[in-house]
Amino acid sequence: CGIVGYVGQRDALDVVVEALRRMEYRGYDSAGVAILDGNGHTTVEKKAGRLENLDKQIAAVGRDTLVGHTGMGHTRWATHGQPTDRNAHPHVSTDGKLAVVHNGIIENYAPLRAELEAGGIEFSSDTDTETAVHLVEREYERGPYAGDFVASAYAALRRLEGAFTLVFTHSDHPDTIVAARRSTPLVVGVGEGEMFVSSDVTAFIEHTRNAVELGQDQVVVITADTYTITDFDGTASDGKPFHIDWDLAAAEKGGFDFFMEKEIAEQPEALASTLSGHLENGRIVLDEQRLTDQDLRDVDKVFVVACGTAYNAGLLAKYAIEHWVRIPVEVELASEFRYRDPVLDRSTLVVAISQSGETADTLEAVRHAKEQNARVLAICNTNGAQIPRESDAVLYTHAGPEIGVASTKCFLAQIAAAYLVGLALAQARGTKYADEVAREFDAMEQMSAVIADVLTTMDPVRELARDLAKADTVLFIGRHVGYPVALEGALKLKELAYIHAEGFAAGELKHGPIALIEDGLPVIVVMPSREGRAVLHSKMVSNIREIQARGARTIVIAEADDEGAAAVADHLIVIPKTPTLLQPLVTTVPLQIFAATVAATRGYDVDKPRNLAKSVTVE
Ligand code: G6P
Repeated sequence: CGIVGYVGQRDALDVVVEALRRMEYRGYDSAGVAILDGNGHTTVEKKAGRLENLDKQIAAVGRDTLVGHTGMGHTRWATHGQPTDRNAHPHVSTDGKLAVVHNGIIENYAPLRAELEAGGIEFSSDTDTETAVHLVEREYERGPYAGDFVASAYAALRRLEGAFTLVFTHSDHPDTIVAARRSTPLVVGVGEGEMFVSSDVTAFIEHTRNAVELGQDQVVVITADTYTITDFDGTASDGKPFHIDWDLAAAEKGGFDFFMEKEIAEQPEALASTLSGHLENGRIVLDEQRLTDQDLRDVDKVFVVACGTAYNAGLLAKYAIEHWVRIPVEVELASEFRYRDPVLDRSTLVVAISQSGETADTLEAVRHAKEQNARVLAICNTNGAQIPRESDAVLYTHAGPEIGVASTKCFLAQIAAAYLVGLALAQARGTKYADEVAREFDAMEQMSAVIADVLTTMDPVRELARDLAKADTVLFIGRHVGYPVALEGALKLKELAYIHAEGFAAGELKHGPIALIEDGLPVIVVMPSREGRAVLHSKMVSNIREIQARGARTIVIAEADDEGAAAVADHLIVIPKTPTLLQPLVTTVPLQIFAATVAATRGYDVDKPRNLAKSVTVE
């Protein structure tokens, strides 16, 4: 979800609505704005559903009712309370003067709400957020700082527990916005004669590139010309100033119909930038290294924790790291890891993979790992996000902003980064000679050009996707590194096309899934390389025969000159030959294009699949 606040000279409604549009990619189910007219009045409009709904509502009430130079906006992803108009943000105080927008969860909202209701306050929504605005209101009316908006906001903030970003305004203090963060992100955009607060820099990059990131448990008070950062007690504190060098075009679609298509096309670059600079004088180097070489040498077990697509990248890391480093690697969904009793100690390296760096499940897994004394290395695409901040070492996937909710280029970048971690461990533990490490690195770098070639041969995949767009079920099978690719192919199809899709290890077919095969059922097969894995290759040919005999329509992704695969495939998708461990960087591409094309053919919004959010900041 996205948050923005603005104080300046411009029309606040324009600024705020535009910011919400830029943050749409984060996923949301309702949106709203509050505008202060400067004469003691705040007007709120909010609506469930897409921003278009809010636009229509604003047009219906008339833009002239929303004129002012201070305002806030919000796109919500429901946590407490259904995604309805009434639960959409901003929420206002009983007198309508105070407004709040909020990301995250106020954990102690239930006792606070009971306390406020006992004091006679009536709530008009089911949200945890509304407690915050009523708390400020009560302070403002009868607290020790009555009449002082800023001090009342501080007093209320100190009562809140949980993870939140909050932005407050008051009609009688139209020149001031108070914003606070605990765990979830908040950035100040510093303009000339105008100031922004937001959860995401894309909200204001068209107006200013000077930003200040707030740290944990900080509050900022902004006016058009000033920003003042303190802790929750009001003690002066510093944020982290930075310059945003993303160009605006990077956050726009370019010539493609969907961001996701653009991002699929950017994969060669995403891979190259992720690897760039990580081999120095024949040695692998990480980005932020707060671990010593000795720490890496001491690692005798790796746990990879992640969610969704990042988890699938983690599964691939297991094949590479166990092969190169000869230490056990476990890969676990962050949400499961967190509530088990994983056996970790000081010599365990936990690798947390997260595009956003703010996925709550993964963040909690990191904290859990740290409590057990394990060392944590983050693989992340978002600079300075919470997960890298809390980790001992970081490797950034320099894939650039990913707008499509379903991850594509970040998946490839995550695989590359996880492999780099494997090489760094192999180097530290001496399981590979320096020249071998450098050779593996070079082979990875060469994959950029290979992927670029593959991208030019995808028209038959698009045609096939259009042909299969009406399928009810599609199965995906793979072996060895092809297995996580099958899982990712199925995940993409589920996410984008809302088709029942499942990925299996091909060896498991006869243990259950083969019962699903019926006439005409499409099965996508990720073929192992014939040279690299001859045994697996021949087993896969048998698997294809078994399912074909039961009526399946087989779509086989196989390397060039793979006659065995060609002989049994109903449809053949040919990819170049690559080293086995690097094959996923190529076999994933047709699966992404397949899913995106099926979704577009079915008329769905490829960038914003229903019910999903780009960054899931609640457990
Ligand atoms: C959400 C997104 C997925 C993503 C997952 C993990 O579910 O919709 O595309 O793979 O979160 O996100 P992360 O930011 O931690 O990689």
